[in-house]
This record gives sequence, structure tokens and C-alpha cells, in this order.
Amino acid sequence: MTHAVSGYTLQATGSDAIDAEHGAIMDILESLTRGGPVDTAGLVALRTELAHHFDTESAEMAVLPPDRREQHEHAHRSFLATVDSLAETARNGGTVSGDEVNRLMLWFIVHSNTADTELVETARRAAEPPPMIDMADWLASLDDPDLRDA
Ligand SMILES: [Fe+2]
Ligand SMILES: [Fe+2]
Repeated sequence: MTHAVSGYTLQATGSDAIDAEHGAIMDILESLTRGGPVDTAGLVALRTELAHHFDTESAEMAVLPPDRREQHEHAHRSFLATVDSLAETARNGGTVSGDEVNRLMLWFIVHSNTADTELVETARRAAEPPPMIDMADWLASLDDPDLRDA
């Protein structure tokens, strides 16, 4: 299923595990925009799924430079705080609108398409480093007739 809001479309990051979790979170977000005011239970379910997903990504973040890792973790914390604030509003009898959920969706799509894609790409490159050619071995191979004529 394609997930999109306000002209932004969720892209695959290349990690099956992360993409499956993104899809599940977008399903919850989309369900929250249907059927009137958003209820506390829906926001708590969203929060639970997000916390699990952010743990999944944190486990991959050792490959990132420290500053990028901290920026990514900070972005997650900030988003969870926003969801917590909306859940608190709903719990106290306040109204959480579909527009507010749309803003959550928009942030989630942009974050997934940028920061999460960076994370998956960095992890992929770390797992498949290019060959490291030793200069002495390489020079020796040039003088080796078996290798030179191969
Ligand atoms: Fe993500
Ligand atoms: Fe992320």
C-alpha cells in the first residue's frame, strides 16, 4: 500500500524490517485520521509502535558518525514527546484533530525518506566495504607474469 500525505509519499529505505515497521505506523496514523476526533487509545497504540520502531533503528545506529546519530536520536525523542503531548490532551478530554495527525504523518514521511534512508544506506555500505588494495601487493602483482598476463 502506498502511503502519502500532502504531496509527500513514503519511500522504501531498502531495509525490509524498517520498511515493514514504517508501513505499520502509517497504517495507524491513517486510521487515526478517520472517524472524527482522535482518541487516547489510538495515540497510545501509535506511541507503543513508534517506541518499538525507534528501538529497531537505534540498534543500527552504531554505523553513523556520532553527530548524525545524536541528531537522529534527538529527532525520535522530539517526535515521541509530541505524540505524548497529544495523548495527554486527549486523556484530559481535549480534542486532537485530524490536522494534527496529518502533521505527524508529514513529519514521519519526511524523516523516513531522509534520515532513515541515510541510516539504511550507511549500514549497507558498512556491511559491504569496497576492496582495500595493499600498495606493495599490487606492485608485486604487476611483476608477477602469471597475474600480469591473466
Ligand atoms: Fe523510521
Ligand atoms: Fe528514524
